[in-house]
Order: sequence, then structure tokens, then C-alpha cells
Amino acid sequence: MKKIILTGIQPSGALHLGNYFGAMQPAIEMQSQYQAVYFIADYHALTSITKADDLRRYTFEAAAGWLACGLDPARTILFRQSDVPEVHELAWLLSIVTPMGLLERATSYKDKIAQGAETNHGLFAYPVLMAADILLYNSDFVPVGKDQKQHLEIARDVAQKFNDRFGPVFKLPEPTIGGSTAAVPGIDGRKMSKSYGNTIPLFGNEKEIRKPVMSIKTDSTPLEQPKPVEGTLLGQLMQIISPGEYKNFVAMAATPGIGYGDLKKKLLAEIVARFQPFQEKYRHYLAHPDEVEAVLRDGAARARELSAPVLAAARQAAGLSS
Ligand code: TRP
Repeated sequence: MKKIILTGIQPSGALHLGNYFGAMQPAIEMQSQYQAVYFIADYHALTSITKADDLRRYTFEAAAGWLACGLDPARTILFRQSDVPEVHELAWLLSIVTPMGLLERATSYKDKIAQGAETNHGLFAYPVLMAADILLYNSDFVPVGKDQKQHLEIARDVAQKFNDRFGPVFKLPEPTIGGSTAAVPGIDGRKMSKSYGNTIPLFGNEKEIRKPVMSIKTDSTPLEQPKPVEGTLLGQLMQIISPGEYKNFVAMAATPGIGYGDLKKKLLAEIVARFQPFQEKYRHYLAHPDEVEAVLRDGAARARELSAPVLAAARQAAGLSS
């Protein structure tokens, strides 16, 4: 049996290049080596998305996007978190061993409150539900970004506390495998993120991609002088998107008379070319939502098979009916 790698994807908006290079591409690469279990965390997204139609659309687009980018549903288990509601039963069993202080120290919770979010129990208990996601499927590895590391530590702590009280039920998951991927910079140089409004969409049409690309921040080197792109935002994006063209790009930038506008057009062409095949598949899924739905249903059935013995063991250990 292959080791299980699990991660949750919040369906919180249109997919962008930061999602692709930061999470999707590495996760898709790992699906041959591990039993990958990837789910769309719609319960978690409910803490920030308030419109039912938005949640449904983003959830569908996330599933279609992962399939379009190469997730193989024959091997990988792709499912919608809310199709296995048993996770809430486990969340309850974990909550009774989760100290309040542990959740009060969670930085993502504190940040949200500092930003003026209304406090509610869902936001507070978010890490407990995430721990349940991880433990329910017996995960060995959980690749997450830096911002989720603390949540993972909480999951390990909580698993340990449950095991200490009731016996060895849960496997303690490892945070990452190997080195983590560096964050993809957005068009303003900060981390590419929906909340910064600095994204380049993954599945936009040419026009929707052109607009952000043409507004990538550059300096004011005059047209006739060579452009120092190495190490700059524009250079970094080119290197991430098209490493094979990077040398040419640097040479092009050093040519007097070539302006930043030309360099951005080159980058745009590379983006369009690289994602063309994914775009086509994505459009196919948009036109055939029933295929996406079938993958998610099948994924949920397989996820439930993984979860059933774990949940049964946890119930039994805690003294619930079996
Ligand atoms: N909280 C994660 C995020 O915002 C998403 C998530 C939910 C998750 N459950 C998970 C990630 C379990 C890893 C494992 O990115």
C-alpha cells in the first residue's frame, strides 16, 4: 500500500498561476508516487464565502481545474469535503481533547480578527475540522504552504492528545515532503493571492490574461538601454512560467530598443502557449459538468472507504456505540 498524501484546497475564487505553481503542479506530480487524496474544502470555505451560488461555482471550477491540469481520477481520490460529512463526527471527537488555548494561539484566526472579521465558532474551530480532515484518511504526508504549517502542528497535537487519552488510534502526519515550492509573485511583487488582487488567471481568455501581464511592475529604464530583468519580478515570472525560454528572454531584454512592453508580450505568449492544453480540457469540463460530478461522487465513495475504519476505531476507543 502506497503512503497517503492528502491536501485540501479551499474553493475561494478563480484559479490563478499562484495556485498552479504553488499547489497544483507539485500535488499533481506526486500522484504517481503516493496514494493522493485531494479534496475541495467547501466546509472550510463557508467561513469566508457567504453566497451559496458562489460556493457551488468555485467548488465546481476547482474540481474542473484540477482535472484539466492533469489530476488523474483513476489513481487520485478527488472529492468534495462535504460529500463525506462524517468528518464532523471526528471533529467533535477531536474537539473534546483540543485545549482552548491552542486555538486561541492560531495565527490565522488572530489575523482574521485583527482584520475585523466577525468572530464565530466556525472560524475558531477551523483548525479542528482541518485536523479531522487529515486524521480521518490516515494521512502520512500533508503538503501545505507556510500559512498552514501551524494548523498542521495543531492537527498533530490534537491527534497525540486523543491517542494519549484513548489509545493509539491516529497516525501522526508529517508536514511536507522535501523542499517546499517558493511562492509565486503577483503582478505587484507581493505573493500572488486573490486577497491582494494581483493575480494572473489560469483559465482566463487572452484578454483577461493580457491585462494583468501588461501591468506587471517594472522600472523606468529607457527604451534604448538594456533591461536588467534577471532577479526582477518580470524575470522571476518568466523563469517560473517558461524556464526553457528564460535565456532567450534575458538576451532579448539586453537588446537596446526592446521595451518592457515587448518583454511582457513575450511573457504573455509563453503563458498562453503553456496553458493552452489545460484551457481546452477546462472548457470541455465546463461543457460537461456531469463528468466532473461523476469524478467527485466516485472520489467520495473511495474516501469513505478509507475513513470508515478510522472513524470506527475512534468511536470505539472513546466509548461510543460500535
Ligand atoms: N486550510 C487549508 C487552506 O486554507 C485548506 C485545508 C482544509 C486543508 N483542510 C485541509 C489543507 C487538510 C491540508 C489538509 O489552504
